[in-house]
Amino acid sequence: MEKLKLLYFLLGVIGPGGGTLLFIGLPNSTTLMENQPAGIVVYTFSVNSTSDLSVTPTIINSNPLTSAFTIDQKPPNYLVVTTGNPVLDFETTPSSFDIQIYMKDDTMATNLQILTVQLANVNEPPVFLDNLATQVVTIYIQEETAQGNIYTILASDPEDPTSALTYSLLPASAPFTVSSTGVIRSTKTFDYETDPHSYSLTVKVTDSGGLSVNGSLVVMITNINDGTPYFTMTTTTFTMPEEENPGAVVATITAKDPDNAGFISTLYYSINTPNQYFSINELSGVIQVAKRIDVDAKTLRLNNIISLEIKVTDLPSSGNSNYTTINITIQDINDNPPVCTQYAWSYAVPETQVNGSLITDLRDQCNDIDIDPINNAFNFTGMSGLGSNERFQMIPAGSGKIILTGNLDFEDPSNIGAGNEYSLTISVQDIASPYYKQNIYVYIKTIPVDEYPPVFNSSSYVFNVSELSPPNSIIGYVYATERDYPYIGITYTLEGDGSTLGATSIFWIDPNTGVLKLSDYADYETKTQYTLLVKATDSASKFSTATVTVNILEVNDEKPVCTPNSYTLSVPINQATGTNIQNFKLTCTDRDSGPNSFQYVINSGNINNHFAFSPSSGSNVSSLVLALPFDYAKGGDTTWNYKLKVLINDGNLLSDSPQSKAVVQTGTVSLFINVYIPGLTTTKTTTTPSVIYVTKSENVYSPAAWYIPFVCTIGALLLLGFLGFLAYLLAKYCPCKGHTKPDTEPLLKPAEKKIKEDVFLEMTKFNTVFDGEAVDPITGNVYEYNSKSGARRWKDTKQPINTVPVSPQLPVSPTEQTSLPVQSSGTPNKKVKTPSTAVKAEDGAKATMPGTPNKLQTSQQTAPNLESENKSSPSRFPISPRHSPKVSPKIPKTPPA
Ligand SMILES: *[C@@H]1O[C@H](CO)[C@@H](O)[C@H](O)[C@H]1NC(C)=O
Ligand SMILES: *[C@@H]1O[C@H](CO)[C@@H](O)[C@H](O)[C@H]1NC(C)=O
Repeated sequence: MEKLKLLYFLLGVIGPGGGTLLFIGLPNSTTLMENQPAGIVVYTFSVNSTSDLSVTPTIINSNPLTSAFTIDQKPPNYLVVTTGNPVLDFETTPSSFDIQIYMKDDTMATNLQILTVQLANVNEPPVFLDNLATQVVTIYIQEETAQGNIYTILASDPEDPTSALTYSLLPASAPFTVSSTGVIRSTKTFDYETDPHSYSLTVKVTDSGGLSVNGSLVVMITNINDGTPYFTMTTTTFTMPEEENPGAVVATITAKDPDNAGFISTLYYSINTPNQYFSINELSGVIQVAKRIDVDAKTLRLNNIISLEIKVTDLPSSGNSNYTTINITIQDINDNPPVCTQYAWSYAVPETQVNGSLITDLRDQCNDIDIDPINNAFNFTGMSGLGSNERFQMIPAGSGKIILTGNLDFEDPSNIGAGNEYSLTISVQDIASPYYKQNIYVYIKTIPVDEYPPVFNSSSYVFNVSELSPPNSIIGYVYATERDYPYIGITYTLEGDGSTLGATSIFWIDPNTGVLKLSDYADYETKTQYTLLVKATDSASKFSTATVTVNILEVNDEKPVCTPNSYTLSVPINQATGTNIQNFKLTCTDRDSGPNSFQYVINSGNINNHFAFSPSSGSNVSSLVLALPFDYAKGGDTTWNYKLKVLINDGNLLSDSPQSKAVVQTGTVSLFINVYIPGLTTTKTTTTPSVIYVTKSENVYSPAAWYIPFVCTIGALLLLGFLGFLAYLLAKYCPCKGHTKPDTEPLLKPAEKKIKEDVFLEMTKFNTVFDGEAVDPITGNVYEYNSKSGARRWKDTKQPINTVPVSPQLPVSPTEQTSLPVQSSGTPNKKVKTPSTAVKAEDGAKATMPGTPNKLQTSQQTAPNLESENKSSPSRFPISPRHSPKVSPKIPKTPPA
């Protein structure tokens, strides 16, 4: 014990004051298990001190290992506890080391005790030598990577690094294995899109002592761009209306990239089909209208479905692409009105168009190009018409068929007149919204049709016209009316009446007025009644006819014609009165007078009224009788040759017409009567006939035409001179007396020519020099005179001037011959007043013509052939004189006063 006290002292346990300071319960050595954590109480001790003052035991040695301990001061106990730093590992730290604990009190007593710590080895689990020891190790495997080693575990047993360890991997379902040497291997090829994207593995390493350590591994499967995008929209069929504005959204294409499942991925869209109508947003896949679409246009009309191939790709270029086709149906909208080829129509419809006729079908002329049957349907509505009066209707309603439901007859006063037209207004309108509408105007003009023939106001006409009516006289009127409206015109014509054309040609009808006129004289004696057919023709050649009976009214326009017309008789001086002279009779006819109408009047030459006709009237036959006896012996009679002019009047007693009664026509007969004394062989010379024709010409001139007498005088002188010269030439050179007009009488015998020429010479010369003759009032002798010079001479009536043989049965006195030239020369000059010089000259020139043949005939055939104008006129004009166009027919017939 002493020894220990000493040691204490030495050690300071016993301070100088004699106090003591001692560790109580602290051994010098202790055993500690390795790897103790902090806070483990290695030993608990207390302190024995003489001082009451506090003592603080402290570990004072500087061994780094001492920091693994500290002294927890809890007086009166003091605890040696581990700090855990450093961890006292048997394999890495000295297995035994000292801890010096020092303490000191206020008595300055100190004490130091060494605590030897003896480490004890314990069996430890294996430890990882890699990152598994401290963290979760993450391993990345790219998908599609072939199976194989992915990691090698590094671990060892702390007690014996060379000892074998056992490895295991959990969970067992994971597609990984670990080898006995700690190599982890994948057992499959991963697909990121189908497999889990990560695996959490626990590695367990166990040592031979059964201790193990766990490590955590996470295997991440990494994605690569190996998937093809696919479309995700539910339909590929879309519809849209036409005429959408550009920008309108039509469809949205959606797609996904399998590589990016669960992530926001970027895909790129495009339209692979060339098209002008649509565009697609490259990133959003929204399809929009790029251009207005008119489904009614040509190509889309045929197929209103637009197919587009859509492409989606996961990279702007060279990515994985996919395609799909979408169909966009363009729906028709009613965006087009009905369109007609024109909106104003004109029709010309004949007025005879029957009720119910189709005027027009407007539907044929209109069309709506909208393709939808609803949108392209249209109707015709609201027909209204100016003046149509329901005359036109649309049947069936709305059809566009315009039907005539009335009449268009112009003759119907309720219709509009010609030249106007009905005007209809019709609307053509869509039946679907927005009810496009357009007006159509239909103009219907009515064409007049010639429906009715003209109608005469009488089916037959009877007109009377005098046969004396001159051409251009109005016979009457025919009148036809035309029921057709408008009235255009009627033309009147004459049709044949079945007789010759010549018969109808004396009528003329005014084609416009229907006035029937004479174009020539009618002749009752030729035809008393005409039946004409008058025709009224309208503009369309419709016609009707009416008969026109024209009665030619009889007028006493024919003069009696008696035979013989001229005759030479011889009557013995002792002829008994009341007896017929030479059995001579006049037989008369008259075309328009009866046989009882004749009156016989001896107009001139009946000196002493010796001669008379019996009966003097009432018969067509009358005899010449001697009324009074001759008395030459007492001088009562001096005339031996009578020239009687007999006028035969037709009283026309049978006609009832007062007008015709007033007209008396007169025929003329010339008779030459010689009185002879029976028994005498030579002809007794007698005085010249007491009837003398005196030429008298008179002209009336206008005072203004002062030159006419002058010209006429000069002309007459020249004519006379010429005639004289011509006569001289004829007398000198021409044995045949010049040309004569054709004659029906037989010509002379050649043997008699010489004689006759001599006679003619005398007469011609006579005519040439002395152009007139007259009776001396004192002597009663005839003298001749020249009208120009006034020269005169007695006419030699006693000398026979020819020796022409007379007719054997008709003894002719020589004196008779001398009278012939007197009459002949007088005949041509016997004229009435003529109004103009032209006619006068013509007549004057012509006047010589009848005279010439008369002389010739006289010379060859004697008296019977010597005829007055009464004979010559009919022969020259075989046709009735009034038919002669140039010469006024009546004038020559008027007897000279
Ligand atoms: C290791 O892991 C297994 C399973 O998860 C477990 O049962 C065991 O207790 C763990 N051991 C250690 C030392 O953690
Ligand atoms: C004369 O009249 C009678 C009737 O009175 C008639 O028979 C006869 O034929 C007429 N003669 C001529 C020539 O006309």
